[in-house]
This record gives sequence, structure tokens and C-alpha cells, in this order.
Amino acid sequence: MKSEILSLLKNTSDYLSGQKICDTLGVSRTAVWKIIKQLKEEGYVIDSVNNKGYRLLSCPDILSKEEIFSSLELAGTSFVRKIIYLNEVDSTNTRAKLEAENGACDGTLIVADEQTKGKGRRGRSFSSPKGVGIFMTLILKPEILPQKASMLTLIAGLAVCNGIRQVTDLDVKIKWPNDIVYNGKKICGILTEMSAEMDYVNHIVVGIGINVNHSDFPEEIKDVATSLYLETGRTFRRSDLISAVIKEWESYYEIFLKTKDLSLLKEDYNSRMINTNKKVLVIRGDDSYEAVARTIDADGELLVEKDGALVKVMSGEVSVRGVYGYV
Ligand code: BTN
Repeated sequence: MKSEILSLLKNTSDYLSGQKICDTLGVSRTAVWKIIKQLKEEGYVIDSVNNKGYRLLSCPDILSKEEIFSSLELAGTSFVRKIIYLNEVDSTNTRAKLEAENGACDGTLIVADEQTKGKGRRGRSFSSPKGVGIFMTLILKPEILPQKASMLTLIAGLAVCNGIRQVTDLDVKIKWPNDIVYNGKKICGILTEMSAEMDYVNHIVVGIGINVNHSDFPEEIKDVATSLYLETGRTFRRSDLISAVIKEWESYYEIFLKTKDLSLLKEDYNSRMINTNKKVLVIRGDDSYEAVARTIDADGELLVEKDGALVKVMSGEVSVRGVYGYV
């Protein structure tokens, strides 16, 4: 009921009478009053005026199931069917896999305020300090072949790129396949993991980590990582960003499911890709070679030009970085 009251308040710019809330939700005046009190204690600034009702003046940057749910509702998306919110978790991806194995439905979103063992690609860790970032994982169960799962990373990348652009106006770009970058530094990473049989996907978990209000980073990533706060001087409400990303994700995912490849999305992706026409180092295990990145194809593979010929590079197999640095 808390998220419904929050949604009603967020949806109304004027005062909303207690009676109206009671009638809409079929609850008692006392129940409404109790929830308003709780919301105020959590940091929501709500003006209460006799005979007029309640008016939401400002929302803090807190994450809770109710806050995320009401933001998603306000954004008009129903992509997320269930939210599991945790103040602290080892990794939202690890938790999502556990939930999926225990039968969690398609569209379950795990969000945490802090991760103690945030995971990056290739066994790396992902810095996930309390209260400043977005650490979330969505469980998806598409009817696709396992070899297509890596395309979901690119779809999530498009969604994050657009969501960040909408909320912050920053012209962020995608570094194929799974980083969102600005000013040559990383703002977001995406980690997709899957449980599958030879020809059947049980579930896919897509984890997104966005550096939102970080004011600094650990020494070892200082030179390659940045945050939306550091780039704009402004702080952002994480739930606004989550809902913008999820809304974008929903529409990209729907388009993907029509063809089960990226044929309808590759142009969009290519226009947002930072690697285009850049010299890159393609790294496979201990081997690496230099090439020029061109575009992605309908399978989400990166086409690179090497010795005058186009070579396809698959995201699961290699990593790509700039010849002179991270991008
Ligand atoms: C990378 O940059 O290599 C990928 C980073 C992915 C980080 C996100 S944060 C939410 C989810 N949970 C994790 O443990 N990892 C992903």
C-alpha cells in the first residue's frame, strides 16, 4: 500500500485529500496517516494541511521497493513484475541466479544499495559502495537459443545509454560490448550470465552497475572510472534513473523479441558506439592483435578491420580496448 500512496502523491502536483486516498485505495484514514508518517521519517518531505490533505514536496535519493515501484509506475512501464530490494548483498547477479533457480518469474528485478562482492566481467570485481550507485539485475526468460544470450548485454547497453542521456543530458556512449563511457572513462558496466541446456535457456540474468553519485573511486580504478556526479556536478535520484533505464529496456527488448537478433537495433547501437573507426586491441586470452573497429552486425558481433579484411569478433570470447588506453 505504501507504494500506491507514493504513486498517488507523485502523480499529483496539488494537495491530495486523505479521503481521496482512502477512497481510491479502499483503506482507513488511520492507515493512510501511518504511512504518511513513515514516508516522512524516511526523508520524503510531505506538507500536511488540514482540510486540504497531503502534498509531496520532495523525495530523497533513497532506494526501497516502494520508491522503485512507484517510479516505475510513474514512468509507465510494466516490464518489471517483481522487485527484490536489499540494503546489502554480495552481488545482485549471484542473488538473481539463486532466485531464478528457486523459480523467480521473468521480469524479477533485484536491486541493492550496496554490494560486498560486486562482480565484473572476466572474474574482476565491481566497486559497489553504499548509497551512491545503481546495482541491479533483471531476470529474463526469453525463448531464444543460448548463443543469442550475449545480445541481451547490448540491449541493456542501449537502454542504459538512453536512460542516462534522458536523465542527465550527458552524451554518453557505448564501448562495445558492455560499458557505458563518458569523457574516456567508464560510468557503467553490464554483466550477463546464463543458465542453459544445449538448445534451451533456463534463465538469463543481466546485471547493471551505474556510477551515479560517487565523489571518488578506489586508487586502482581512478583513471578509468567516473560517475554522473563527477561529470555534471549534480546528484541524481537513483530511482529516476532506474525507471528511465527500465522503460527504455522494455521497448528495446520488445523489438529484439520480434526478430531474436539485433537487425532492427544495430543502427541505433552503431550510432551510440564509441569504438567506431577507432584503433583497438582485440584481446583473446594471452593473444592480442591491433585492428580498426567498424560496426556491429545483427548478431551483435563487432566487425573489425584487420590487414584490409573484416573480421568478426564475438563478445563472449574477447575484450577490446583502445590501443592508447581504455577507450
Ligand atoms: C563489468 O564492468 O565488467 C561488468 C560490471 C557489472 C556490474 C553489475 S552491478 C550489478 C550486477 N551485480 C554484479 O555483481 N555485477 C553486476
